[in-house]
Amino acid sequence: MPSLLVLGAQWGDEGKGKIVDLLSGKAHLVVRFQGGANAGHTLVVKGVKTVLHQIPSGIMNPRCLNVIGNGCVVDPELLVAEILELRKRGVVINPKNLLIAGNAHMVSPLHKKLDRLEGGAIGTTGKGIGPCYTSKASRRGIRMEAILGRGLRKALAELSMAHHPGADDGGAVSAAEGAGFLRSCSFLKPFIGDAQSAVYEAVISGKRILLEGAQGTLLDIDHGTYPFVTSSSTTIGGAFTGTGVFLEFRKRIAVVKAFQTRVGNGPFPTELKTAIGNHLRTVGAEFGATTGRPRRCGWLDLSLLRKACIANGFNYIALTKLDCLTGIDPIKVAIDHDSRGRPVYRELRGWDSPIDKAASFQELPKTCRDYVGFIEKFTGVRAGLVSTGPDRDQTLIRETIW
Ligand code: IMP
Repeated sequence: MPSLLVLGAQWGDEGKGKIVDLLSGKAHLVVRFQGGANAGHTLVVKGVKTVLHQIPSGIMNPRCLNVIGNGCVVDPELLVAEILELRKRGVVINPKNLLIAGNAHMVSPLHKKLDRLEGGAIGTTGKGIGPCYTSKASRRGIRMEAILGRGLRKALAELSMAHHPGADDGGAVSAAEGAGFLRSCSFLKPFIGDAQSAVYEAVISGKRILLEGAQGTLLDIDHGTYPFVTSSSTTIGGAFTGTGVFLEFRKRIAVVKAFQTRVGNGPFPTELKTAIGNHLRTVGAEFGATTGRPRRCGWLDLSLLRKACIANGFNYIALTKLDCLTGIDPIKVAIDHDSRGRPVYRELRGWDSPIDKAASFQELPKTCRDYVGFIEKFTGVRAGLVSTGPDRDQTLIRETIW
């Protein structure tokens, strides 16, 4: 059975939640392999919006096992809150359908405090992601399996004292915070296990496996716009190290927004600080799913997208939010950057009539189809899926995925 990989091809927020949700209906396993509560995957089912942060998007499919892999960093308090909130809405979550890798690292309250103190220049989400991966790389981190043993309290104290000596200055964790944190850890005990074996068993028994990336290629710690990046490997390599299993991905799906957005600081050559940028923010509801921050908006940067295709070997594009470009004419796309990093644009014709009710790709206006065709030609990757609105039904599938 095929394995699929779904990755963001830009700076995150490409609409991965919707794509993974569409695919997870047939998946036996959905796996998150990097990142943590910095992610916000928005699903809209029959008009009802759900934002998932740490839980894989397969949780809406009652037959699917959802795995939080070893490459992730887990915030116990936020994860418990997410589980309880979903349960309130009738979503079934138990250790049979949610598994947390014992060797995933734990985000402690201290990591979050440090992030809020230090993350300003990058514009991080403040979820403790960078400090937690720092602890991991410096071999002082705490893995989720520590919850199953007896030394968790001591490990947390040691982390605070040894790893971040400056933490006393505003970084210390109060007794009340510590107690709440430990309660959340206890709650998660039955969910912690051997995720590598679970994924491997699924591979050898021919199950359908879907790997769900968080953030996007341009936020990758190695291949992104460093240092304005997240602290994990958001590209294909992260899928292997973050699960500990070799998977032959039949489809490597790039989720690409029809324009470009970014939250947080860092370079954005095609950014539009104009009425068109504001228009895209409004029609696309471009506000962070995790932090609520307004997203910076701009023209699609095909030059950067081509690099993302090289990094990940994409063989399928899921193009999202095409409807947001309706009414803009001409539409620009960056095809290169000059020696000073400024975008070199190509102008393409726009379209006027709404496309959100189109039932097939052929029903789209010609100039709209040409826009998609230009992206395909430039990247050499077919746009097998085109999304024309937030709902599941607003999806034109030109090439089946599973
Ligand atoms: P961190 O991941 O919280 O350390 O933040 C590092 C950078 O990645 C900041 O620019 C964040 O805004 C950005 N970032 C982190 N997670 C996401 C996401 O899920 N979508 C978009 N940007 C993100």
